[in-house]
Amino acid sequence: MEFKEELKKYQDLINEELKKYLRTGECPEKVLNNSMEYSLMAGGKRLRPILMVNVCQIFSGQYQNCLPFAVAMEMIHNFSLIHDDLPGIDNDDFRHGKQTNHKKFNEATAILAGDGLLNYAYQVIANDLIKETNLQLQKQKMSAFKELADATDRMIAGEYVDTEFEGKPISSDYLEYMHNNKTGALLKASARIGAIIANASEEDLNKITKYAEIIGLTFQIKDDILSVVGDEKILGKPVGNDEKRGKCTYVTKYGLERAQEMLDELTKEAIEITKTYNEKGAFLENLAIYIQTRNK
Ligand code: IPE
Ligand code: IPE
Ligand code: MG
Ligand code: MG
Repeated sequence: MEFKEELKKYQDLINEELKKYLRTGECPEKVLNNSMEYSLMAGGKRLRPILMVNVCQIFSGQYQNCLPFAVAMEMIHNFSLIHDDLPGIDNDDFRHGKQTNHKKFNEATAILAGDGLLNYAYQVIANDLIKETNLQLQKQKMSAFKELADATDRMIAGEYVDTEFEGKPISSDYLEYMHNNKTGALLKASARIGAIIANASEEDLNKITKYAEIIGLTFQIKDDILSVVGDEKILGKPVGNDEKRGKCTYVTKYGLERAQEMLDELTKEAIEITKTYNEKGAFLENLAIYIQTRNK
C-alpha cells in the first residue's frame, strides 16, 4: 500500500475511534462539549495516535489493544494546541484553517475545553484499565499510563520554557531541551506506549524510543521552518507568528539553511533505525520522510 493511502486509512481509524467519545445531548455545559469537539475534530493529522498504533502493530499484530491510549493521546495533544493558541501563550487566531478555540468560543471556554480534554483523556484510560481482564496486559497498560502522564508533564514544561524565552537569547542546549519537551515528549510517548502495550522486548523499546526522539525533534524543526516559509493556506495556521512573538526556534538560532540541514541529517538517522525492521519498518521510514517534507 502507498504511504499516503496507509496514512489515510490510519487517519480514518483514529477519527472513527474519536467519534465514539464525543459528548452529545442537552446539558448546561453543552457549549463546552461543543468546543472540545470543535478542536478535537478540526482536521488534525493524527500523527501521534497513528505512530502508536503502527508501533503496536509492528510488535504484536494487535493494534486494537492501544486504541484507548491513542484516543487519550490525541485528546491531550488537542488540549496542548488549544492552550498553546491562547492570548497568554501564542495568541494565534487560526489553526486547521479555522478560528482557534478561544476565537470561535471565548477565552474562558477555551481554557476549560483544554482542561476538559486533558481530564477526559485520563478518564478514557481509567475506564479501559478497569475493564481489562488480562492481568499481564493490564500491567502493560499501567506502564503506558505512566508514560502518558510523564510525557504530558514534559510537554507542559516545554511550553513553559517556550514562553519564558520569548524575546530572549537561548543556548543551543536549552533550545533542544525546549523542542524535545514541548513537542518531542508526546511523540516519544506515543511510540513507547505502542511498544509497551505490545510487550516489545527491551531492545525494541530502546530502538523505537531513539527513533521517536529523533522524529520528535525533526517535527518541531520542520514546524519552525514552516513558520517562516510555509503556505498559510495549506498550513491552516499563521506564518510569521514565531518571528512576531520573538520565539526561539531552530531558524532564529541557526538560520534557515542550517536548520534544514539538521532536519535532513536527523531524518537520515531515524531512517537507519527503521531499516533494521525491514518491510515492517516501511511505514515508520515513510513517516520520518513525511515529517521532513510535509507542508502542513
Ligand atoms: C502541531 O502539531 C503542534 C506542534 C507540536 C508543532 P501537529 O502539526 O501534529 O498538529 P495537528 O496535525 O494539527 O493536530
Ligand atoms: C507546539 O508549539 C507545541 C505544543 C503545542 C505543545 P508551537 O507553538 O511551536 O506550535 P504551533 O506552530 O502553534 O502549532
Ligand atoms: Mg507555542
Ligand atoms: Mg503555537
